[in-house]
Amino acid sequence: MKAILLESLHQPLQVKSVQVPEISSGEVLVRIHAAAFNHRDLWIQKGQYAGIIFPMIPGADGCGVVEKAASTDDKKWIGKEVIINPSINWGGNPKVQATDYVILGLPHHGTFAQYLKIESRLLCEKPAHLSFVEAASIPLAGLTAFRVLFTRARVQHGEKVLITGAGGGVALFAIQFAIAAGCEVYITSGSDEKIAKAVSLGAKGGVNYKKENWHKELQQQSGGFDAIVDSACGDNFAKLVDIAKPAGRIAFYGATLGAFNSGVPAKIFWKQLDILGSTMGNDVEFCEMVNFIIRHQIKPVVDSVWDLDKAQQAIEYLSKGEQFGKIVLSIRL
Ligand SMILES: NC(=O)c1ccc[n+]([C@@H]2O[C@H](COP(=O)([O-])OP(=O)(O)OC[C@H]3O[C@@H](n4cnc5c(N)ncnc54)[C@H](OP(=O)(O)O)[C@@H]3O)[C@@H](O)[C@H]2O)c1
Repeated sequence: MKAILLESLHQPLQVKSVQVPEISSGEVLVRIHAAAFNHRDLWIQKGQYAGIIFPMIPGADGCGVVEKAASTDDKKWIGKEVIINPSINWGGNPKVQATDYVILGLPHHGTFAQYLKIESRLLCEKPAHLSFVEAASIPLAGLTAFRVLFTRARVQHGEKVLITGAGGGVALFAIQFAIAAGCEVYITSGSDEKIAKAVSLGAKGGVNYKKENWHKELQQQSGGFDAIVDSACGDNFAKLVDIAKPAGRIAFYGATLGAFNSGVPAKIFWKQLDILGSTMGNDVEFCEMVNFIIRHQIKPVVDSVWDLDKAQQAIEYLSKGEQFGKIVLSIRL
């Protein structure tokens, strides 16, 4: 089969011929039709994750059709269109992942290939209202957005919610989910065009985070936030503290801008703020997230679709941050 291989750090993603994986008990073979990029794939290529075994097939997100099942119980999956939960070994505690928790695509081979072997318990039927490309966009970003928004930030109908970096894969799902849940959603972005696109999706307003006093402008637009979902951190985090309402929640799942080097701790304790970290999600949250997408007939925002042999160009495009929505690989036989 054809697969994208990363042969060592800082090397380009290349199409190579590799063996179709052999499945064993509890596993199925999925013929992948579409697979989506996440920022994680770029961090992996740049060597910012431990535990890589080369050569590796990247990719946490995929959608396809089950072709083979090793166990009799799993034969029912054959012919079904599925998406795959990339959260492997979350474990029995819904609050936190187990120590052997991993995400599909490191160290296990990922979805950027014509075939993937995966445990059948990680399968979920593809929502019928979505194409393979749209459904492939969901797993990692949708799951992360669902947990950070509902489990961690505990957003409620009618609340004012800020989601930073509107163009990001996770952020866009968070925007769509919060709007569907009846929140009043505001956003930031480094691009006025992306702000306009997020407003056309139903966001109430937004400000470009490249402006010096973006947080004051947002405060004026909204009157402050009950909940804030962020993935940038860095020195901007102190500004989020300023515009959170008393007793507000700030939840973050990424640190694209790095460490918090500024801020006044007293503002956090005096305002009784909750500062919450969040990563991926558990198996129940994955099912709830997919059901939420079906119930609200949400269509993932797809920025662009690339052929498998254009994977390196696609990841370079991701690194520029110009996208609005998911960058997807179309994988033909
Ligand atoms: N913990 C987890 O489970 C988890 C899961 C998924 C992702 N993450 C992390 O979350 C981050 C985003 O991931 P992704 O896959 O959604 O990335 P992505 O699709 O590549 O998007 C990155 C986004 O970051 C935003 N951004 C850049 N500079 C910013 C700033 N100064 N302030 C606010 N936002 C800024 C950009 O927003 P604009 O384009 O609108 O300017 C951009 O769209 C990454 O650091 C990733 O590693 C963590």
